Amino acid sequence: MITNRYLALDPKAYGLPDAEELRTLLAAYSPEFSPGAPDKERIPGRGKASYGERPPGGERVLGGEQATDGERIPYGERVPGGERATDGAYAPRVVPLSARTPAGAPENPYPVPAADLFAPSARVGNVPVEKIRADFPILEEKVSGHRLVWLDNAATTQKPRRVIERLEHYYRHENSNVHRGAHTLAERSTEAYEGAREKIARFIGAPDSDNIVFVRGTTEGINLVAQAYVKQFLRPGDEIILTVLEHHANIVPWQLLAEESGAVLRVAPVDDDGQIILSAYADLFNSRTRFVSASHVSNALGTVAPVEEMIALAHSHGTRICIDGAQSVSHMPVDMRAMDADFFVFSGHKIYGPTGIGVVYGKADVLEAARPYQGGGNMIADVTFAETVYREAPAKFEAGTGSIADAVGLGEAVDYVSSIGMQHIAAYEQELLAYGTKALSAVPGLTLIGTAARKASVLSFVSAGHSLEEVGKRLSAAGIAVRAGHHCAQPALRRFGLEGTVRPSLAFYNTREEIDLLADVLSKIAGGKARP
Ligand code: ALA
Repeated sequence: MITNRYLALDPKAYGLPDAEELRTLLAAYSPEFSPGAPDKERIPGRGKASYGERPPGGERVLGGEQATDGERIPYGERVPGGERATDGAYAPRVVPLSARTPAGAPENPYPVPAADLFAPSARVGNVPVEKIRADFPILEEKVSGHRLVWLDNAATTQKPRRVIERLEHYYRHENSNVHRGAHTLAERSTEAYEGAREKIARFIGAPDSDNIVFVRGTTEGINLVAQAYVKQFLRPGDEIILTVLEHHANIVPWQLLAEESGAVLRVAPVDDDGQIILSAYADLFNSRTRFVSASHVSNALGTVAPVEEMIALAHSHGTRICIDGAQSVSHMPVDMRAMDADFFVFSGHKIYGPTGIGVVYGKADVLEAARPYQGGGNMIADVTFAETVYREAPAKFEAGTGSIADAVGLGEAVDYVSSIGMQHIAAYEQELLAYGTKALSAVPGLTLIGTAARKASVLSFVSAGHSLEEVGKRLSAAGIAVRAGHHCAQPALRRFGLEGTVRPSLAFYNTREEIDLLADVLSKIAGGKARP
């Protein structure tokens, strides 16, 4: 674990063996991480707290009656002039800004928004951000007379030119149904479709392309896991564990299953920063537990869940587990062999691929044990009116004609991000997230919701005296796209007493200059002056 002012970063999330290698990688993005740079953010002498626990003698930022450095502040508000720091592994603490700003540092460290929306010197790995932005034609789009600032990446990501061109190439030169024709285009199309399956298997570190099932997206993927695998084991009174962070797509399919089977849902809570309380999660397991399904990254709060620990705990109880990777797969390297999830699901459109395509990764034994999800063509080896023999996985889960071109487009998207390097994308975005956290923290009346030590992409907030709708519309009038509402994660937001937030969410084509613009418009909405 290494820390900067806002985030505690886990080398495992970058596919790196230790903190030193992560520090070296991050140093390319921010001098704060340079080897040898004094680690100003650590607070010596404080005890190390385990995940979700209170540090010895430590105070909390959120949680109602917070005592912070002797002051009482109302729920959800910041300590005046305060900012957050991390200590030990995950223990949050409020430190007055005045105590930590080096003497002689400029009062406001932010530049005036640049005329253009990228700093030509910024790089993701060795690729200039300017070049990455040029790969995405829609970023040239004008909205309300302004250049588009796309900060709605948790809802969907924009598509690079090569994905758009790959779709066009497919329809111009390869279009055919797969597997069924004895002709040239069927061969081309089958090769492209199965080639995409292989690319995706390599991208997520799956042992084999047979572990990859194509579906419409994460929602269909979770429904498949519920109906095809879990349903057959459930008896009345059996239990399924979820967490309070889940997207509705990882709640409602399990409720439907519980209604059918008499099973019961158990929900792991989060602390006031939006972090899973691991000890409470562990306490949910008992002899009736049959399955766990949990998100890797919360779409509403940005929390990165401790999935390695959650998976290990589930397995220690002999329970299988599905990880919803919809919000993680585009922000950090994932490796199925290291993660050891039994199922992992994600959507193509959140990782720069087309809509209408997604992936269920399953270990060979769970896919074999699962029953077909839907019946139809393509999934059978032999059909008589007396009996049908199914094909092996993944074919037995892919009844009918799938989204062939979209699968091929998704293969192109993972090639594209691989060419840049997921570890570089993760490092760049972490730096941007820390920058955004600081910039939004300085906006008057704004409260960030979701302040976990490990976060990815999301900067959810509420703005005192301004409705979510008003903030969303005024940002849109400045060309800035964010999502405002409940983000299909009502239980997660209600945990914080909220029905919705405004949610900017980042991708690796976003820039510090775009965040400056966001913070300036928000300051104007708050009635304050734009930052100098
Ligand atoms: N699940 C998507 C979001 O979080 C749509 O916005």
